[in-house]
Amino acid sequence: MQILKSFNDVSLVVDNLSGTLGLVPTMGCLHAGHLSLIKQARMQNDFVAVSIFVNPIQFESEKDAHEYPRNFESDIAMLESENVDFVFIPDIGEVFPYGYQTYVTVTEISRVLEGSRRPGHMRGVATIVTKLLIVFRPDSIYCGQKDGQQSILIKRLVKDLRIPVDVQVCPTVRDSDGLALSSRNIYLSAKERKSSLLLYSSLCSVQDAFRDGIKNSHILRNIIANVLTNDSLLETVYISIADFDTLEELDQVCNKALCSIAVKVGSVVLIDNIILEEVLNE
Ligand code: PAJ
Repeated sequence: MQILKSFNDVSLVVDNLSGTLGLVPTMGCLHAGHLSLIKQARMQNDFVAVSIFVNPIQFESEKDAHEYPRNFESDIAMLESENVDFVFIPDIGEVFPYGYQTYVTVTEISRVLEGSRRPGHMRGVATIVTKLLIVFRPDSIYCGQKDGQQSILIKRLVKDLRIPVDVQVCPTVRDSDGLALSSRNIYLSAKERKSSLLLYSSLCSVQDAFRDGIKNSHILRNIIANVLTNDSLLETVYISIADFDTLEELDQVCNKALCSIAVKVGSVVLIDNIILEEVLNE
């Protein structure tokens, strides 16, 4: 595995590749969720590149970015064992050198959900992903359904800017009890972690109700609200049922919808989602 530290290193490698390249952008502290993206990229491409960069411009404060968990040595070991070809680990000055002033904004999609809760977050994500796509010129980029809004944003930006890359969205990887894997789970106490299981069970209740024919979003949102209010350790931040491409809130689920929630548990906000979609021939 080659470790690349600068955009020039990346260009030198990419210019001489013959075969398909899959790119998996990450912020490190890798877990089985990230590895599922890497495995998918490995299956579908001749070469796999992973980036590890705790992107300061997608955090609300320098402190938040600084406190984001890091686990460099174990990350490298995991990437080696997944047969990753290239890992890109730039420092902040390489990505945002002195005088940097260019950003990418996906307007509407960035205003809602995580975008409204974390101003500037989606612009930070769109900017770093665009920079990585320009330099790596991958055939496919891999992202997780866990960050549903982020995946929708990446699909939109690739379409709008006509960047020739296939966006592959991989399913959310969960612990055996249903909790979606996240680097933030380490901050949960045993009690909080137990309460957090209600996130997925509330989403499953909505999935069941939807399959039973309930399409009214107000009723579906209430199903989640009722499950979450049962636990005093959980504070609901938002419950959304929105169009799968635009993220506009829906009154009625007709086609494909993203049902997403954010819940404060102790010091962390956990996010999770499911896709509501008519399954034919069920
Ligand atoms: P990070 O949180 O490290 O996640 C990297 C990728 O792993 C994202 O596409 C995310 O959706 C996916 N992922 C995380 N947990 C997952 C899980 N439980 N199951 C499946 N996929 C999972 O998301 C980011 O970094 C950053 O915003 C980034 C895109 C790298 C831009 O800085």
